[in-house]
Order: sequence, then C-alpha cells, then structure tokens
Amino acid sequence: MDASKNSEEILVLMDTTNHRMIPANVIANKRDGQPLSREAIRFMIDGFTSGEIPDYQMSALAMAIFFRGMSEAEILDLTQAMVASGDVLKPTGSAVRVDKHSTGGLGDKTSLIIAPLLACLGYHVPMLSGRGLGITGGTLDKLEAIPGFRTNLEEREIDEQLRNVGCVITGTTSRLAPADRKLYALRDVTATVPSIPLITASIMSKKIAESLNGLVLDVKYGSGSFQSSISQARVLAKALTRIGQLSGITTTALLTDMTQPLGSMIGNACEVVEALEVLQGKGPQRVRDLSVELAARLIYSLDPKHTIDNIRARLTGLLNNGEAFEKFSSMVRSQGGVLNNQFNLEKTRVILATSQGILTGLDCQKIGYAVIAMGGGRKRAGESINHHVGIRWLTPLGMVVHPGDAICEVFCNSDSLFEDAKALIVASLEFDKGTFKFPPLWTE
Ligand code: URA
Repeated sequence: MDASKNSEEILVLMDTTNHRMIPANVIANKRDGQPLSREAIRFMIDGFTSGEIPDYQMSALAMAIFFRGMSEAEILDLTQAMVASGDVLKPTGSAVRVDKHSTGGLGDKTSLIIAPLLACLGYHVPMLSGRGLGITGGTLDKLEAIPGFRTNLEEREIDEQLRNVGCVITGTTSRLAPADRKLYALRDVTATVPSIPLITASIMSKKIAESLNGLVLDVKYGSGSFQSSISQARVLAKALTRIGQLSGITTTALLTDMTQPLGSMIGNACEVVEALEVLQGKGPQRVRDLSVELAARLIYSLDPKHTIDNIRARLTGLLNNGEAFEKFSSMVRSQGGVLNNQFNLEKTRVILATSQGILTGLDCQKIGYAVIAMGGGRKRAGESINHHVGIRWLTPLGMVVHPGDAICEVFCNSDSLFEDAKALIVASLEFDKGTFKFPPLWTE
C-alpha cells in the first residue's frame, strides 16, 4: 500500500505531541473498517515483538482483523512486518531453494518424502516445520520418533546441512519471524486462528524467512484438515499464492482431499514407518502419488522445460531405486538420528465391523482425537507425547464392509486408553449415507 495515500489516516493515528502512533487508534481504525497503513502495521508488529504493545491490544487488533478482513496490500504489509521482526536464513550459494508447505491433514507424512526427493535433484530444502496442531500430527513430532533425531538446529547447522546433504527438516528457530510465534500463541487463546489474513501472514512470513525461490502449497480440505470445504481451501490457497508471488517466490498450490486419512498409518512412529515404505518404492498409492505430484508441480513451476509427466517419472524413479531413501537416511544421520527400524509400536489390537454396509463417510476429527486420547498428540501446548501409539486404517471410503472385517488396527498398550480410542473410531464411521463419490486426490 502507498503510504502517501494514507497521510490523513496516519495523522489520526498519531499522538502529535509525542510523534508516536497510538495503538488504540490503530485498533479503532481497523474495527471501523478502515485499511491499515504499512506504517501502522509495522508499528503494531514491532511494538508487540519488543513487548511495548501488550497482549491485550494485539488481541484486540487480531479480533478486528478477524471480523474486518484485510486487503491483499495489508496482508502483504503484515507478512513483511512479521518477516522483519527477526532474521532470514542466508541463501546457500547458487542452489535453488524450495519448500513444500501443507496446511495439515490426518496421516499426512508427505514432508518426510518430498524433502529428500527434491534434495536428490540438487535443490536445497530448508523445511522449517511445526508440532502437531489440533488433530493433525506435526512433522517434528513424527521425526522425533526416530531415536536421537534433533529438531532444534541452529541457523549455522541448517546452512551446513543444506550444503552437505541438501535437505533439512527442523523447527523454526527463535530468531525467524518471532512476531508470528508470539501472535500465534495469542490467536490460539482468542479464537482468531481461522482468519485467512492472519493464517496467510503467519505461514508466509516463515516461508519468506527461509529465503526460498520456489514453494508448493498443499492446501487441504475435508474432515481430516482445518478447511472443511473445498471453497474455503480455495480462498486460502489464493491468498497464500498471491503473497508468495508478490514476495518474489514462485508459488504454486494444489487443493487436496482429506475426507479420509492420507495413507493407512496415523500417529508419529506409524507415519515414519509408512514414509520409509514410500521412500523405498512401496507404501500406499495415495501417499506416493501426492508426494510425487506436489514435488513435480514445484519443479515444473520453476523450470517448465520438461513435461510434468517426465518430472513425475523421474521422481518415481528416485523412490523406486532407493536414492530418496538414501537421502532421507543421510538427513537423519546428519541430525543425530539412528534409523534402525526399531519403532516399538505398542500392542496391536483390531477393531472389527459389527454390521454390513458401504463406508460412505468418515469423521476424521474423531479418528485424530482417538490418537490424541491415546497420548499420541497434545491436549495442551508443551505436553509430552507418546510416539509409539497409533492406528493402521484398513477401510478406505467406498469399501463394502462385512461383520467381522477389520476396520483398523490400533497400537496401544493400555486397555482403558484403547477403549476411549475405540469409542471415537466407531463413532467416526458413516455407513450407507447417500451415494458415495470419490473426490479426486488433488484439484488445481
Ligand atoms: N500454520 C501456521 O503456521 N500458522 C497458522 O496460522 C496456521 C497454520
């Protein structure tokens, strides 16, 4: 936004005696539906990051943004202010830096596959990931199921690993977009997480701080994700893509189906086990296809001289010939992990169908809560989790189920936690409700 156009508005925001903006006036402007100037956004974000603007004023602004929304220019200004609140990673020489970001889905382990796949082709992948949020598991939690795996690398270590291995998956450092970390914690407790401008600035500030050339977004919809409808996912994908492009990152997005878990395995160690299968040319088709597609779209967006079919074939070859697995193993070693295939999943129990019917729907929120109930996810931020519980889902949507068929296997030592999980899983099943139509795995 051009600041000169907003001189009148900025005057209203200023304490003219002390030449300072007044937070309450900035908040009131947004509350009343006025656009925020770049200066006002910078003032609020800088003040909030340094502690001069207290949580209650930032919460009020977040709520005003939640109800009033933001123009594209405001979202870009907010994103840039959050990037400027901290460091950005140094580019690593002339290597092309890329990443994939997913909005989170039940059983989604594609990050573990895509980072090494892209590194096999010479891209540098500084994948800064998060912990579990709601029912969706976090990539860091999954990787910590590997004994010794470190997810708190410093910027110097990230840089070194990118040069030596090509990919790194670690937590965002405390110096990258610190405003986002503080604001996210406030949004969480003020019911302002679902605001599209706030989600967009939050995600994109961290991606811009990675100094990327290319980004592919996996924007999920369905009960196993945060966006229940494809139309909501489309709005978010558009906002994220625009801010990426306006920030000089070649950004592309797919809308992907989460009306059922992605693949069979759900839970931390469970998902590493399945990712390792895919990295060795095996594993469920949907996980393999989505991983290859996201990586292929990203490569094609940066370098359209090859056909997308050729790129898909190349990537599939890297899964089948073991190169992607080798790259993943190098990344694990470099981050202190020991890959010995000892994932110590808890005791296997089976949930059986009690009647006949076609599985026409799944409430994936309930399946996700079943994993949380067993200790595989957090009820409160900061809690420790059990990496060794989980579920192997055996019944895809559309399947005809007979009494005695296995719906899923559950990995859980505790009888009582298993009963809690079972009640949620049984309640998630919907049989014979209308005609079943398989949504496509991805849509542009
Ligand atoms: N992930 C983020 O990093 N931020 C959000 O606001 C939502 C999901």
